[in-house]
Amino acid sequence: MAIVEVSNLCVQFSAKGQVKTAVRDASLSINSGETFSLIGASGCGKSTILRVLAGLQREWQGGIKLLDGTIKPGVRFQGDLRRNVQMVFQDPYASLHPNHTIYRTLAEPLTLHGEAQIAVRVEEALLQVGLPTDAMKRYPHQLSGGQRQRVAIARALLLRPKILLLDEPTSALDMSVQAEILNLLNRLKQQFDMTYLLVSHDADVIAHMSDRAAYMAGGVIEREFNRAALVRGEHRMNAA
Ligand SMILES: Nc1ncnc2c1ncn2[C@@H]1O[C@H](COP(=O)(O)OP(=O)(O)OP(=O)(O)O)[C@@H](O)[C@H]1O
Ligand SMILES: [Mg+2]
Repeated sequence: MAIVEVSNLCVQFSAKGQVKTAVRDASLSINSGETFSLIGASGCGKSTILRVLAGLQREWQGGIKLLDGTIKPGVRFQGDLRRNVQMVFQDPYASLHPNHTIYRTLAEPLTLHGEAQIAVRVEEALLQVGLPTDAMKRYPHQLSGGQRQRVAIARALLLRPKILLLDEPTSALDMSVQAEILNLLNRLKQQFDMTYLLVSHDADVIAHMSDRAAYMAGGVIEREFNRAALVRGEHRMNAA
């Protein structure tokens, strides 16, 4: 069953009087429980698709079914949609507030959504991503890159989302740490029954993680790979 269905998505930006088409007529469908990946060269439109699905990019055209409903351009995500679709970015340092403790970073979304037992939930969130609970007293600069990305993942999971949008979640990390984070993501996906949309430049990461992948170029989806094609490495010539 499709949990995400994007039909003929088009996203344009105007800059300096010029109209730039970031995504052109893109269609894709992601089944519940799948890891679906986007590959392609820098600037081809991958992050833009994720930002639309996260409700961060609200100007677009086309049709989008997300979870049980449809979303419309210009509309701010609220309620269940806001909870159920979360995004993890490439650079955890940029995505965590430098002057907030990890406790505050993790407590805030819970408070905003009116959740109870905040302290317990923060501890639980840290343990789920393999961090000690005393990490909550620290600031982002007092953690390693891998630990920061674990915090970003913990934050994304706080509200028990159904869909996780992962925009190059490990490309800023050392190789050995990358593998740990990818394994953590796979474990959490099983544990919480999530669906992933992953962007990565790394053909090995794509092969390791994905059920299916789509190759984009110049805002267009040019080709899709199923699991068998990924195992055969057919995506490798297209991974940037
Ligand atoms: N807010 C914006 N304003 C103007 N142009 C934008 C904006 N966001 C993205 N673009 C342009 O849209 C195109 C697609 O950008 P996008 O960030 O989706 O690419 P990407 O595939 O994620 O690239 P990368 O692999 O480098 O992250 C690029 O040409 C980019 O410059
Ligand atoms: Mg990007």
